[in-house]
Amino acid sequence: MKLALKAIGHGFLGRPVFEHVDLALASGEVVALIGPSGCGKTTLLQIAAGLVEPLRGRVHRAYRRHAMVFQEPRLLPWMTARDNIGYGLRASGAERAMSADVAARRAAEVGLHARDLDKYPAELSGGMRQRAAVARALAVEPDVVFFDEPFTAVDVGLKRILQDLVIAAAARDSFSALFVTHDLAEAVRVAHRLVVLGGNAQGLVADRRIDGTPGARGNREVFDLVEAWSGEPAFRELFDGERESAA
Ligand SMILES: Nc1ncnc2c1ncn2[C@@H]1O[C@H](COP(=O)(O)OP(=O)(O)OP(=O)(O)O)[C@@H](O)[C@H]1O
Ligand SMILES: [Mg+2]
Repeated sequence: MKLALKAIGHGFLGRPVFEHVDLALASGEVVALIGPSGCGKTTLLQIAAGLVEPLRGRVHRAYRRHAMVFQEPRLLPWMTARDNIGYGLRASGAERAMSADVAARRAAEVGLHARDLDKYPAELSGGMRQRAAVARALAVEPDVVFFDEPFTAVDVGLKRILQDLVIAAAARDSFSALFVTHDLAEAVRVAHRLVVLGGNAQGLVADRRIDGTPGARGNREVFDLVEAWSGEPAFRELFDGERESAA
C-alpha cells in the first residue's frame, strides 16, 4: 500500500464535506476519483497529498516522493519550459546539467520539441503548457502522482493524447495515482479502479474495479462501461448537474 486514508472526515466553517472516507492506493495502482462539483474531490486530494490537515481520520503514506498536476499548468512565468520541468529536481538539490538532461528526456516523452524548451510559458500554447506540467511531475520520478482534473481545460483531441501519455508513464514507471476527474469516460480509460464521492456529505458511494488494463481497453469497451454505469444510482448524481446546466 502506497497511501491509505482512514476514516477521513472534513468540512469548512462547521459544514461537513465528507465523513468516514476510507481509500487506499496500491503500488502501481491508478484510482480515478469522480463526483459532482463541490462534493469535495479537490479537498480529499489535498488531504491525501498532505496539503490540508483533515479534521478527522488519518493518512498513512508509504512513499518517498509525490507530484501533482492541476487543471491549470501553474508554470513559473519567469522560467523557460526546461527550467520549469526541472524545477522539482533542482529544488531537491540536483545539479543544473542533470536537471536539464532529465527535463529534455521528460519533455520528449510528453511530445514537446527540443526547441520548445527555451521558450517561456507565455510563448507556449495551452496544450504545450499542460504537457510541460505533466513532464514536470514525472521528472521527479514520483511514487505517487495526484491529478486534479488535469485535462479538463484542453481540447478533445489533445485530451486523449495526454491521457495516453499518463497511462503509458504509469505503466512504465509504475507510480500510483489518484486521478480526479468529472469525466466518467476519462476515468474508465486511465484507471484500474474507480471511486465515486457522493454529494451532500455522503462519502464514497461506489468503489469499482475496472475490467482490463488502462491503455488496453478499446473505445467500445470504454463506451459500453460508461453507458452501463451512468444508469446506476451511484453515478446518476454526476450527470444531474450536467443536465441542469445543459437545460
Ligand atoms: N478553503 C475553503 N474554505 C471554505 N470552503 C471550502 C474551501 N475549500 C473548499 N471549500 C468547500 O468545500 C466543498 C468541496 O470543495 P472541493 O473544491 O473539494 O470540491 P470539488 O469536488 O473539487 O469540486 P469541483 O468539481 O467543482 O472542483 C465546496 O462546498 C467548497 O465550497
Ligand atoms: Mg475540484
